Amino acid sequence: MSIQEKIDQYTEEINNWTPRSQQDVEDYRLKFLVAKGIVKGLFEDFKSVSSEDKRILGKVLNEFKQLSEAKYVETKDLFEVSASASNDSNAQDLTLPGPGFEIGTRHPLSLVRKEIVEIFKKLGFIVAEGPEIEDDWHNFSALNFPEEHPARDMQDTFFIQKQEGNDIALRTHTSSVQVRMMESGTPPFRAIMPGRVYRNEAISARAHCFFHQVEGLYIDEGVSFADLKQTLYHFVQELFGEGTKVRFRPSYFPFTEPSAEMDISCTICKGAGCNMCKYTGWVEILGCGMVDPNVLENSKIDARKYTGFAFGMGIERITNLKYEIKDLRLFSENDIRFLKQFETETI
Ligand code: PHE
Repeated sequence: MSIQEKIDQYTEEINNWTPRSQQDVEDYRLKFLVAKGIVKGLFEDFKSVSSEDKRILGKVLNEFKQLSEAKYVETKDLFEVSASASNDSNAQDLTLPGPGFEIGTRHPLSLVRKEIVEIFKKLGFIVAEGPEIEDDWHNFSALNFPEEHPARDMQDTFFIQKQEGNDIALRTHTSSVQVRMMESGTPPFRAIMPGRVYRNEAISARAHCFFHQVEGLYIDEGVSFADLKQTLYHFVQELFGEGTKVRFRPSYFPFTEPSAEMDISCTICKGAGCNMCKYTGWVEILGCGMVDPNVLENSKIDARKYTGFAFGMGIERITNLKYEIKDLRLFSENDIRFLKQFETETI
């Protein structure tokens, strides 16, 4: 058989060949492509043809070589997956556990919010939520911030819409949810309201343009400042441990009268004085007071019949104390090295 005839025959064979298994592909390789295979053999034969024939045959032979190699490249991966599955007995053991994947960790702010909620739940407080985009009425007016009153400047606000009597803003505090709660029904009310709030502040280790608060509201007949004190005292003992001291300092909020700020004895230095408490032994954790009668009346609650108290605390502040975190920015940077440190927390 001449070289040309052989090439024609093998070309036809290759074109008609369809492998059915990895073994077929391997047989093909051994037949055509190895050192002692057909392609190399034809090149050996080629050496002995006349130089005249070489010119024509050389091209044909090279084309055949390309065809035989291309066919191999085309088919060699076809059976790879099933081949490895049938060779590897483990791959067929469906009872083996799947490959592990890392589960995330709870964010420290979520951990602390949950702890706060649990404590108040045991005291009969329900959990309520309100919108983060709030109108002027719920964020300010219903809470006794009069128009043009300097108290509105106490909080730098991100306004979404500035329109006479119809301002829309990102809520500056969760006290807006108090109003929504009071408007939603009739007393008694006993609820805590966790959520995110926004203030137009330059971002630094100690301030951020958004943070989290938990609001508390308790309205019923005969609720007094003593109830406020006892509730918050109990809360602090539960959250920071027995023996944590509290103190109330007179303060001002437009929506409570009287108003106070509550400090706790510094949990880090136990009152001896440290960086966290600015060497005073005390750290402020919340604002509180008796709900102003105007606020009750704004929500159509009879202020002669009902009294109540409210408080609002920053979750970041409490988390900083609990975990000794010194930079607020860590909470929103999503740095896995920071978040991973809360891996062992199970709640
Ligand atoms: N809303 C106040 C603040 O953001 C906190 C507060 C809530 C004070 C409820 C008194 C009563 O600073």
